[in-house]
Amino acid sequence: TPKYGIPEAIDLPDRMWPSQTVTASPVWCSVDLRDGNQALPDPMDPDQKLEYFELLCRIGFKHIEIAFPSASEADFRFTRRLVEEDRIPDDVYIMGLTQCRPHLIDRTFEAFRGLKRGIVHAYIAASELHRQHVFGMDRAKTLEKAVEAARQIRARAEAMPEADIRFQFSPEEFTDTDLEFTLDLCTQVYEAWGKATPEKPLILNLPATVERRPPNHYADMIEWFAKNFPHRESVSISVHSHNDQGMAVAATELTLLAGADRVEGTLFGHGERTGNVDLVTVANNLYARGIETGLDFSDIRGVADVVERLTGMPVYYRQPYAGEYVFTAFSGSHQDAINKGVHRLGEAPDKFGMRWKVPYLHIDPEDLGRKFERLIRINSQSGKGGIAWVLEQDYDIEVPQDLRSELREIVQAYSDRMGREVASSEVYDLFRSEFLEP
Ligand code: KIV
Ligand code: ZN
Repeated sequence: TPKYGIPEAIDLPDRMWPSQTVTASPVWCSVDLRDGNQALPDPMDPDQKLEYFELLCRIGFKHIEIAFPSASEADFRFTRRLVEEDRIPDDVYIMGLTQCRPHLIDRTFEAFRGLKRGIVHAYIAASELHRQHVFGMDRAKTLEKAVEAARQIRARAEAMPEADIRFQFSPEEFTDTDLEFTLDLCTQVYEAWGKATPEKPLILNLPATVERRPPNHYADMIEWFAKNFPHRESVSISVHSHNDQGMAVAATELTLLAGADRVEGTLFGHGERTGNVDLVTVANNLYARGIETGLDFSDIRGVADVVERLTGMPVYYRQPYAGEYVFTAFSGSHQDAINKGVHRLGEAPDKFGMRWKVPYLHIDPEDLGRKFERLIRINSQSGKGGIAWVLEQDYDIEVPQDLRSELREIVQAYSDRMGREVASSEVYDLFRSEFLEP
């Protein structure tokens, strides 16, 4: 028997995605403080979690999973602190995770005492693999436990009439679970909750707990589920991608095409193993296609600095949007093309009506609080256009066309001799000694 293969695909021959591109922003849910934090070698302490929570609020997240309050004293106390110190903005729903077990649900509601608005998030392992190997539960038992949990959460929520308490249900390992069974499970949970309306939908979070499938399978499963769920208008379909095969961003975007309403993930992809989907990338991809996301990344390096400090983990140099090198061109021809593109900004929009049309850069660094000066690094690969650009930017010197080739040779030779990148001050010194004061 082969050791690996593609998990059995679901047979959906009549797939019709609503659109070829995502046309509206999903609801964003950060799980940094739960899925992200539980996977840090050195989890955040309460003060650090509070600082991270405030960062998430500033960015604009309205759904924030803050803890698993029944799983640890620290998470319980953190939830209480947010409530008691009145730290939660009026338009933010905090979310607490619980298993479908009565005493853990009770404990979650204890943590939520006095809360004005929040989401109780109950999950249960739905896949054959997990039910049989880990919990030893059959399908009937899984259904019974999930339904009981939904009823208990309803009763506890009704005992807090002054609060707006929503319910999120996750069939864990959705992508490894038989679809008909998941549909049945979620339908029964929906009925047991009994409070979902289009205005206050039940959130059905359908996770790729482990990324074993290609992104199109996940999207097909979401599409099938959305089409077949009997109360579609009163549920919010949420996706939660992990990145085991490195395709969580692609999977998330395809599930949005397939009809998902809401996305869970973390900043820069923190989370179990290879992480959750990176919401910075997904949100900025949508932004770069003209969608208003409601998330503010106008100081992306500031966000990265806080996350690096609090998690103790660096943001990778080539991390989309935030990495140190994402607006840096090393090759001469790229530098030249960027330079020309930037100089022509302000001319008429292109045929698609877009004003940003710079070769090699799909987004304006300034939208992320980053600067053009950092675009060009000079080394032995640099071209004449890039070198001229540095002198113009930093020293207001326009290098005459007929000197550019010679200057390039001088700078490249210097970089080769030094065996390193060349600072713009060194380019200036070389230019001055060769051409201004020879
Ligand atoms: O990955 C997962 O399935 C989860 C659940 C708790 C939603 O994190
Ligand atoms: Zn997860």
